[in-house]
Amino acid sequence: MNRYENRRVLITGGGSGIGQATVLRLLQEGGHVVAADVSPAGLADTTDKAEAFANRLSMVVMDIGDEQSVVSGVAGAVTALGGLDAVVNAAGILRSSHTEKTSLPDFEQVIRINLIGTFLVIREAIPALLEGREAAVVNFSST
Ligand SMILES: NC(=O)c1ccc[n+]([C@@H]2O[C@H](COP(=O)([O-])OP(=O)(O)OC[C@H]3O[C@@H](n4cnc5c(N)ncnc54)[C@H](O)[C@@H]3O)[C@@H](O)[C@H]2O)c1
Repeated sequence: MNRYENRRVLITGGGSGIGQATVLRLLQEGGHVVAADVSPAGLADTTDKAEAFANRLSMVVMDIGDEQSVVSGVAGAVTALGGLDAVVNAAGILRSSHTEKTSLPDFEQVIRINLIGTFLVIREAIPALLEGREAAVVNFSST
């Protein structure tokens, strides 16, 4: 099935786990994808696994916790794709899952990446998304 034929999608966290699996699935279904991740090694792994779809895949090293990195990373993705139809926010970090054992710096880092980072990516993507007719934003969360 080619449900995403010619759809242009930016996927954060594309170097591992859910984000990488989403990159591979959308490529299999005809999409054009930019995989963004803070980890160059993760992106290299995705490049290897997506070798068969290399003509429809680009990479961008982007730290979603850093505003300037997001501004330039999203702009680069829009340029590479020639527009933008969807954003998948799969980048995220997990620290201690026990509140009573969580330090303030750890909690602040989680908020910085998982919440503020997701906001920054959406904010920067909105102008390009609004140029299309069927834009979508997908965010991954947790319990
Ligand atoms: N796997 C699960 O069972 C599960 C359950 C609930 C929620 N989630 C959430 O889904 C999302 C993805 O989970 P996953 O299991 O695929 O995690 P993962 O650790 O395998 O992948 C996360 C990716 O995000 C990247 N990343 C981390 N910080 C970043 C940053 N500052 N900028 C850009 N990229 C960054 C990492 O390098 C990694 O490639 C996370 O937000 C996670 O909290 C996962």
